[in-house]
Amino acid sequence: MALAERGHRVVIADSLVNSSQQVLWRLRHVIGAPIGFEQVDLCDKAAIMELLARHRFDAVIHFAALKSVGESCERPLDYFENNISGTINLLQAMRASGVRRLVFSSSATVYGDPERVPVREDARLQVTNPYGRTKLVMEQLIEDLCRSDASFRAANLRYFNPVGAHVSGLIGEDPGGTPNNLMPYICQVAVGRRDRLRVFGGDYPTVDGTGVRDYIHVTDLARAHVDAVDYLLRSEGNLTVNLGTGQGVSVLELVQAFEQVSGRAIPYEVVDRRPGDVAAVYADPSLAQRLLGWRAQCDVVAMCRDAWHWQSRHPQGYASPMRDRR
Ligand code: WQD
Repeated sequence: MALAERGHRVVIADSLVNSSQQVLWRLRHVIGAPIGFEQVDLCDKAAIMELLARHRFDAVIHFAALKSVGESCERPLDYFENNISGTINLLQAMRASGVRRLVFSSSATVYGDPERVPVREDARLQVTNPYGRTKLVMEQLIEDLCRSDASFRAANLRYFNPVGAHVSGLIGEDPGGTPNNLMPYICQVAVGRRDRLRVFGGDYPTVDGTGVRDYIHVTDLARAHVDAVDYLLRSEGNLTVNLGTGQGVSVLELVQAFEQVSGRAIPYEVVDRRPGDVAAVYADPSLAQRLLGWRAQCDVVAMCRDAWHWQSRHPQGYASPMRDRR
């Protein structure tokens, strides 16, 4: 959406393994213009080669990856094949079709349990799960390609914790099954799909004993991608930047903000820590501001407001009828 609003022509390529055509229809409804769509799996090398040969893309934004930390521990080979082999196929298709600009959706998970916060881009990289390992390897594949071919340029975006929904309330997070992540779980408690939130750990060395993260609104995240595409199209060099607000927010602080915004009580129970979790991770986002002129504009209240606006109007996610009220 942000790309279209800045005048770019967009084609979405997705296997739909973790999404639905519904999102596409709603995107077109919100933008009021057509958006190209191709159902393709990056693991199908011939198909991605054909797709890139058929279109004359100026740049690619690579979002395609399985992204559940817990699931990656159960199915590491599926994650390596989907995320890493899929990326190799994409890079080979880009080279074959002459597309030389890539924005990559990476993750703060490559920092593991950081030695210090806020986290800078030159912090030690240390992965703690197969999902994080695939993100680090994908970064390294892209970095090596850029080293081997100076005409190929990439922007590596390390997301902290994306949350929220489009301001229209028509497009939002709709995880299949039990949500792994905090915000969608809170939303499902608020609409009565879950009876209470389990808070993983109340004894961390943080402001209130619960985990601290850097939550960033998906709208801010989207804008950073457009800024990165424009950066690659108009200037030289590659970049790696953190995308976060620079503010750490605890689990209970997020719960409290959500209750204030939604007017709904979020019952919770503090239980044992979740294996692999770290106490506190939040970004130093100053490099993104310096290189892209980008900084997050939405605060936690806006994140909770938009997440609630989406979930309250679509309690069953995309299975709910589209409720369109501007
Ligand atoms: C946030 C906080 C939990 C659920 C993961 C990935 C990361 C990125 C974002 C893709 C933690 C606590 C959570 C719950 C809870 N994904 N929590 N009860 O683990 O920081 O990051 O998602 O790029 O790569 O690692 O996000 O939302 O799962 O957890 O108490 O039911 O909420 O312990 O402190 P996380 P999260």
